[in-house]
Amino acid sequence: MAQRNLILLGPPGAGKGTQAQRLASRFGVPQISTGDMLREARRAGTELGQRVAAVMDAGGLVSDDLVIALVEERLGRADARDGAILDGFPRTIKQAEALDGLVAKMGRDPVRVVAIEVPRAALVERLSGRRSCPKCGATYHLDFTPPRSPGVCDACGSALVQRADDTAEAISRRQDVYERDTAPLIEYYAERGALRKVSGVGPLEEVLDRVTRSLEA
Ligand code: AP5
Repeated sequence: MAQRNLILLGPPGAGKGTQAQRLASRFGVPQISTGDMLREARRAGTELGQRVAAVMDAGGLVSDDLVIALVEERLGRADARDGAILDGFPRTIKQAEALDGLVAKMGRDPVRVVAIEVPRAALVERLSGRRSCPKCGATYHLDFTPPRSPGVCDACGSALVQRADDTAEAISRRQDVYERDTAPLIEYYAERGALRKVSGVGPLEEVLDRVTRSLEA
């Protein structure tokens, strides 16, 4: 069976994490979110976590070499043998080139890329209302996808939190960084015939179906 190696590309708040979780369970492969991995390192208080905290909170990017090493290690684990949903990686041309090298070195099937498109004005509303579960990673929105009990994760009962980089200032910086460093990946993958584009506007299940259908085309 061919591996399902998929990259979800899109600006902050496009719904990459939301859809990656659903695609991972639909396809039976892990979600690999570099943002989640870095936040986990911070919670665990590791030296790596302490090193990246200030950069993340300000909405900047952590170093390419660091995230490339994290992804290489993660892709090498047994549960990623049949594929993986990459969420938040690659984010720069250097990371994309490194991923091409990893895919070749590890003998993995080529990656396909789905760009999730959402108008910029909607993104701020999504991010400022986001709440997430620090334990299981489930994501909610105060208005669009609220938990059954306010402030409590439906899946595991933990208290929900607001991310430190979901302030107005950090959101604006993240959007600028996306335009400058990550948006060029759309052309990078389009030139290689690997890119699909879907609208990320609408109910979560509809967006999920759009992503899945785009992979069949
Ligand atoms: P990361 O965690 O990857 O953040 P991001 O790319 O900014 O993306 P988000 O997680 O904010 O948004 P999302 O698209 O996943 O949206 P979500 O599904 O949550 O990275 C954080 C930081 O880590 C970076 O800034 C950087 O510092 C560092 N980092 C990570 N990877 C790196 C890398 N490769 N290189 C260097 N640095 C790296 O949805 C958002 C909200 O919208 C939620 O509330 C959700 O419920 C809601 N929503 C989702 N879909 C819909 C819908 N269809 N309709 C209505 N609401 C919706």
